[in-house]
Amino acid sequence: MRDDSARLPLETHVAKRLEPTINTRLVKYEDLNHHRTLFAGRGAEWLIEACFISAARCVGRPEDVVCVQIHGMTFKKAANRGDLVEVVAQLGHVGQKSLTVVGKATINGDPRSVVTCTCVFVTVDADGKGKPHGVTLPAPYVDAYREVCDQARAAYESGKKTGA
Ligand SMILES: CC(C)(COP(=O)(O)OP(=O)(O)OC[C@H]1O[C@@H](n2cnc3c(N)ncnc32)[C@H](O)[C@@H]1OP(=O)(O)O)[C@@H](O)C(=O)NCCC(=O)NCCS
Repeated sequence: MRDDSARLPLETHVAKRLEPTINTRLVKYEDLNHHRTLFAGRGAEWLIEACFISAARCVGRPEDVVCVQIHGMTFKKAANRGDLVEVVAQLGHVGQKSLTVVGKATINGDPRSVVTCTCVFVTVDADGKGKPHGVTLPAPYVDAYREVCDQARAAYESGKKTGA
């Protein structure tokens, strides 16, 4: 397939890197727990994977990105075998070395989220030490996604207080 991306204007490159990651999963037999609903570990994996992809796309080097904290994963409704789980992850805050991504999952097109979480990633060098990523969020992006950005910033701030 022809790759026209090299000819896109810079703004389009930036916008593409900031696009939400949307992954749809079919709940299969092997994803179930002993109640025959989606196993929390599998749901968590799907959410964290989508959040990682968002951070890695933004940085451009997946090998430089590690997860340092996962905030507030709450499961509000069970998913059953055959359900379609749509996971959406969106970058909401960037610090000097960190990127905070908000993840949400919905079932069968119902817009109410059934699981949410916020993941903090850090960019690292070849020795695994934190290094600045140089990513910034354009003001129009922050204005457009105010709710996601507020949620991500709150998670970043609370991570700084509690844990590092
Ligand atoms: C990620 C890691 C390299 C950070 O080390 P570091 O560079 O010394 O950390 P710093 O104190 O300089 O913090 C770097 C950034 O991470 C953030 N951070 C560090 N610990 C954090 C925590 N517990 N929660 C939230 N954010 C945290 C800091 O706020 C800072 O963000 P900023 O630069 O955007 O302000 C180190 O914690 C590590 O190796 N962790 C293991 C990562 C891993 O293996 N993940 C896979 C898990 S299975």
